[in-house]
Amino acid sequence: MGVGMPEYLLMFRKPQTDSTKGYADEPVIKSKERYSRARWQADAHGFTRSSGNRLLTKADFDGLSHAEVFRKFKAWSETQIYSYENHVEIAGWCDEMNMLPTGFMLLQPQSWSEEVWSDITRMMTLNSQQYSKGQEMHLCPLQFDIVDRCIKQFTNVGETVFDPFGGIMTVPYRAMKFKRKGIAFELNKSYFADGAGWCAAMEAEITIPDLFDMEALDRDNGAQDYTANKKEAVELETATDDAIDENQVELAL
Ligand SMILES: C[S@@+](CC[C@H](N)C(=O)[O-])C[C@H]1O[C@@H](n2cnc3c(N)ncnc32)[C@H](O)[C@@H]1O
Repeated sequence: MGVGMPEYLLMFRKPQTDSTKGYADEPVIKSKERYSRARWQADAHGFTRSSGNRLLTKADFDGLSHAEVFRKFKAWSETQIYSYENHVEIAGWCDEMNMLPTGFMLLQPQSWSEEVWSDITRMMTLNSQQYSKGQEMHLCPLQFDIVDRCIKQFTNVGETVFDPFGGIMTVPYRAMKFKRKGIAFELNKSYFADGAGWCAAMEAEITIPDLFDMEALDRDNGAQDYTANKKEAVELETATDDAIDENQVELAL
């Protein structure tokens, strides 16, 4: 598996000549011959992807539920040429219909790269649990989908998974869920304490017997009964045999 690190482009503004002003007062000048106005306008815009296909319209979203809007936009974004303006426009329509959530991104543009996993639910992290318990949310918790996939792909049941930067312990927490052992380091005491709490909760969850466990227990008890009965039967049999032997001995005498 290839693992990519995001690249960061640091942009620096030309400093102003007069520091009492908050903007660069000497513009960067390029010649029209070497750098056309057309190119400048495209480059100066923050988002520079191309367009060309039929874009989605408001009617495409009328009457759809959140889940349907999410799926429709995702599928469209995966297959069609992207338009930043149309993306914003669609979000605007959703907002007009009171469909734009405040707590998460409904319209998520998808990558066309085969290296990018597009089936990760970004919201599914331990932060949901932190939030519902009023605990401090972690700045960047890992998504369960990523952790689960790696744990299942790279380890076997019973093996140990180690995260040197544990945060609120997503990795050991999920490792335990999949019957692995988890170890993690964490500098921040409060993250560590919260994470240890989640791990304890997971430990309790995985040790609570469910219906199938109860059935298995019944079967085990049945087996123990059977073993006890069998032991009794063998003792009885032996006693009878001994008795017969004694009788035979008596007879022989
Ligand atoms: C990207 S976060 C990891 C989040 C974690 N995967 C989760 O889902 O909660 C990195 C964590 O590493 C911790 N950290 C940074 N330097 C560390 C160090 N030298 N030793 C242990 N933990 C460290 C930070 O406090 C932070 O919580």
